[in-house]
Amino acid sequence: MTQERTFAIIKPNAFTDGNAGKILARIYAEGFTVVGIKKLYMSKVEAEGFYAVHKERPFFGELTEFMASGPCIVMVLEAECAIKKWRDLMGATNPADAAEGTLRKEFGASLGENATHGSDAPETAAFEIGYFFSGLDLLM
Ligand code: CMP
Repeated sequence: MTQERTFAIIKPNAFTDGNAGKILARIYAEGFTVVGIKKLYMSKVEAEGFYAVHKERPFFGELTEFMASGPCIVMVLEAECAIKKWRDLMGATNPADAAEGTLRKEFGASLGENATHGSDAPETAAFEIGYFFSGLDLLM
């Protein structure tokens, strides 16, 4: 079966609430390979570049302020159908709509502070992985 890579973030609220370890444990338990991982503290400009696709949205300012409000963990995850598998594990974007057992249900506080991010398509994953990782970071 073909392996796929996706990009994931443990967002500042989950990191500062002390939930990064629990989220990582779920990632390993679900069978992902963590190909790349690092903690970083995004600047506002870096957050704006990452979420540029949303720059016309009314929540862009709030979103990028939040992502630059504390440290987060960025990761490259590998699995069969990794993009869908990670989105299924995260649950719905709004934690209020997320199913029991999903990460956003357990660790999300609100639509903005929803604990985790994941790529939504292969092209997005390629952009997002390249935004934070070099090829050398991802040798296995
Ligand atoms: P994420 O998967 O990181 O992709 C874009 C983010 O924008 C999304 O998760 C939400 O956290 C955030 N978002 C989407 N809609 C809203 C909104 N109406 N208000 C605030 N944040 C939003």
